[in-house]
Amino acid sequence: MKNTTHNWYDLPTYYDVSFSYDMKDELSFISNVFRKYLILNSPKLLEPACGTGRLIVPLVKKGFNCSGFDLNENALLYLKEKLNRNNLYANIKKADMSTFEVENKYDGIYCTVDTFRHLLTEKKAIQHLENVSFALKKNGIYILGLHIIPRHKKIEKIVKWTARRGSLTVKTIMSMIKLDMKRRRETLRVVLKIKKNTTRESYVSIYQLRTYTLPQILNIINKVEDLEIINTYNEYYDLSSPIILNSDSDYAVFLLRKK
Ligand SMILES: C[S@@+](CC[C@H](N)C(=O)[O-])C[C@H]1O[C@@H](n2cnc3c(N)ncnc32)[C@H](O)[C@@H]1O
Repeated sequence: MKNTTHNWYDLPTYYDVSFSYDMKDELSFISNVFRKYLILNSPKLLEPACGTGRLIVPLVKKGFNCSGFDLNENALLYLKEKLNRNNLYANIKKADMSTFEVENKYDGIYCTVDTFRHLLTEKKAIQHLENVSFALKKNGIYILGLHIIPRHKKIEKIVKWTARRGSLTVKTIMSMIKLDMKRRRETLRVVLKIKKNTTRESYVSIYQLRTYTLPQILNIINKVEDLEIINTYNEYYDLSSPIILNSDSDYAVFLLRKK
């Protein structure tokens, strides 16, 4: 079995199967946050960098009015076809997380699983938060979820999981191959091992994310005047139990409200 180097976001079926693994708590959290804080029948939601619509599709099914954008055309095509096949509607377009513009304001915006960390510079990250703030109605909510670097706790360098959909099996091996806290870069290698009937394939993807410690993420959020933190959570996504993030936290979920 040969390893081919690829951007795994260009392989939307495999990305979607892989990242849909174990997303029940994340999805319930997102929909319960918006049901709790936005007392509306069909809140208008936006997902920046929505990828294959792993979250958009079930949120539309739950009755939310969803929009999303991404830079990856393969992922957008996959999402549009999936919506069409299921007779669902969402407003999908191509745009960049740091420069996106909106025609109408949103009740809720969400961005989890480290997507925000794809913005590699402070300038782009702040631009993103400012655009989110502009795109939200007053009292609108932004859910932001990302890994942060714990001060003392050992960082898990390899994470593996196996997801199945029909006859397709996707084994994902995600390894941190470099951590440069000075340049604020984490280099990740993702290996996808694909099994479909008698076919076996393997793809390797290497990319960088910006690193954040807890003070660094708090500092950048505080730079955007109109967004206030109303609660914080960890990777368990338990809406009934907000937590206080500390120097050993390794995944942070912020609920931000537009003033
Ligand atoms: C980890 S995936 C998350 C996809 C989706 N939000 C989800 O939860 O499954 C990260 C996504 O960010 C997109 N992306 C990376 N940089 C971007 C940018 N500057 N603007 C828009 N999308 C971007 C990638 O194409 C990819 O689809």
